[in-house]
Amino acid sequence: MAGGAIPQTVLITGGCGFIGSNFLNLLIPRHPEIRFVNVDALTYAGNPANLAAVSNADNYEFAHVDIRDANRLEAVFDLYRPDMVVHFAAESHVDRSITGPRQTVETNVIGTLNLLEAARHCWGDIDGKVFHHVSTDEVYGSLGATGFFTEDTPYDPSSPYSASKAASDHLVRSHHRTFGLPVKVTNCSNNYGPYHFPEKLIPLMTLNCLDRRKLPVYGDGSNVRDWLYVTDHCEAIWLVATQGKIGETYNVGGNSERTNLEVVNRIIDAVSNATGASLEELQGLITYVTDRPGHDWRYAIDASKIQKELGWQPSVTFEEGIKRTVQWYIDNPEWIDSVKSGEYRKWIDHNYGQRGEANS
Ligand code: NAD
Ligand code: TYD
Repeated sequence: MAGGAIPQTVLITGGCGFIGSNFLNLLIPRHPEIRFVNVDALTYAGNPANLAAVSNADNYEFAHVDIRDANRLEAVFDLYRPDMVVHFAAESHVDRSITGPRQTVETNVIGTLNLLEAARHCWGDIDGKVFHHVSTDEVYGSLGATGFFTEDTPYDPSSPYSASKAASDHLVRSHHRTFGLPVKVTNCSNNYGPYHFPEKLIPLMTLNCLDRRKLPVYGDGSNVRDWLYVTDHCEAIWLVATQGKIGETYNVGGNSERTNLEVVNRIIDAVSNATGASLEELQGLITYVTDRPGHDWRYAIDASKIQKELGWQPSVTFEEGIKRTVQWYIDNPEWIDSVKSGEYRKWIDHNYGQRGEANS
């Protein structure tokens, strides 16, 4: 599917999570002629409310399936016969991967292998098929004060999360080399925006500011991340999935490097501007806490390949993106309350059983 061909059925994994739901909210209305099938196990990070605007659309289907379950995954492929896969599902939080590496590896590595095998067995004829794997810049490890990750930077992951994503990237590429599976990979920097589960830096700090709770900065706050507004990432994924070259990798980044302390201070500014809260009061909430073990110091992306070959570049500046994100959290108190209270799990437990693992 090089040269801009549009698929008929796209199977998305992890569409109830942060990036997956932004992707579906963008593409379901834009492409009524494409059927989108969302395969999601509804873990703590999967929230059906993220898709409230599109879940009744005629071109949307949901399959409550855990990608660790190879048999059920093959049945989903048999039923829907997708011609494109966009694979988001993962255990995506570094801190959780440190406290519970096994779950991270089982979903990110075995789950990805299951998906590759299901696609391989379903696609006898690979003509027009695409398997797009969504990955992270964290596979490249940590940078010093200078330099950027390119598509050729050697892998050097630090956390169980990044090691598991590295393993999944290798499996995806090995399925291309060994079996000819038509794969594409994107490695992206840190995303932020609406529907972000409040365990990651930006939503956590935003909600804590709004609630006047402490803002826990790991170490001295000097670690650097490159931030990309989530819909810019979604546009990049769609562009690569529909127009990128088979077998290729594209780095995606926001060209917005900030220290964690700078990020926290921009959130404080935005919350103060939007709500009238005192800057000094919010700044007084900053609390330095024990550093994350194996904490990568700096990530930065050279995104010139996707810019030159496909004409993609970020459209939302960091300052504008933070303003939009803070405003989204202020405008969506019901979403926040249901996530904070755990209320969003009740619908899932009612429909799918206590651990979100039964009945579909
Ligand atoms: P997320 O944690 O918000 O969502 C993960 C989704 O996957 C949830 O809907 C969850 O229910 C589902 N899921 C988890 N385990 C599953 C399983 N075993 N079977 C089926 N579904 C399962 O994650 P996110 O932040 O949206 O990240 C999506 C993808 O993008 C991940 O692969 C991640 O590695 C990658 N990525 C994320 C970022 C970022 O900044 N968030 C940056 C670069 C790449
Ligand atoms: P995070 O959002 O977890 O993304 P990642 O670790 O995948 O880059 O963290 C972003 C940065 O913010 C990272 O350097 C760790 C730091 N951080 C804090 O200082 N405090 C926090 O409470 C969290 C969650 C992260």
